[in-house]
Amino acid sequence: MSVFNASRLLGKTVLVTGASAGIGAAGSNVILAARRTDALKAVTEACVAAHKEAGVQGGGKFAAVQLDVSDRKQIASFFERVPEDLKKVDILVNNAGFVLGVDRVGNLAEDEIESMFSVNVLGLIAMTQLLVKGEISVVEELTLDS
Ligand SMILES: NC(=O)c1ccc[n+]([C@@H]2O[C@H](COP(=O)([O-])OP(=O)(O)OC[C@H]3O[C@@H](n4cnc5c(N)ncnc54)[C@H](OP(=O)(O)O)[C@@H]3O)[C@@H](O)[C@H]2O)c1
Repeated sequence: MSVFNASRLLGKTVLVTGASAGIGAAGSNVILAARRTDALKAVTEACVAAHKEAGVQGGGKFAAVQLDVSDRKQIASFFERVPEDLKKVDILVNNAGFVLGVDRVGNLAEDEIESMFSVNVLGLIAMTQLLVKGEISVVEELTLDS
């Protein structure tokens, strides 16, 4: 039994941070964001191939956008680098992250802890804020128009 109905993803636009390591065949549009452009290009090509192979009708638009989620300036200008037809994001997958600082307490390297928090925690919060702000401005536009 499947616990997840993939048809809910049909035609949605999904933004995946830390995406230079794989997603693609569920019929969604996907914005793949991470720092390494060569790895992003390879994953984007794999997504295009997976979508073609799956033969689903929806989705199929993929865009690779370079992004360091620990860099506030890059986050602020993120949507300037997203293609026009993918700017309305339905789902954010805050995947960017890694594990450092696993030494015994007392030997922890503070720069490792700081770097992990700046990506895994502060980056996640900043990306979530960016997307929620976008949602709010869309709701406001709808309210003003109606
Ligand atoms: N693997 C596990 O067993 C496991 C278990 C529990 C939770 N998780 C969590 O699942 C997530 C993915 O883990 P993983 O094992 O797939 O890690 P991974 O193979 O090391 O991949 C990490 C991804 O994050 C990206 N990334 C790192 N720093 C970034 C930054 N500053 N800005 C944007 N992207 C960044 C990397 O791309 P670039 O280097 O190209 O930026 C890469 O695509 C992490 O949040 C991890 O904590 C993993």
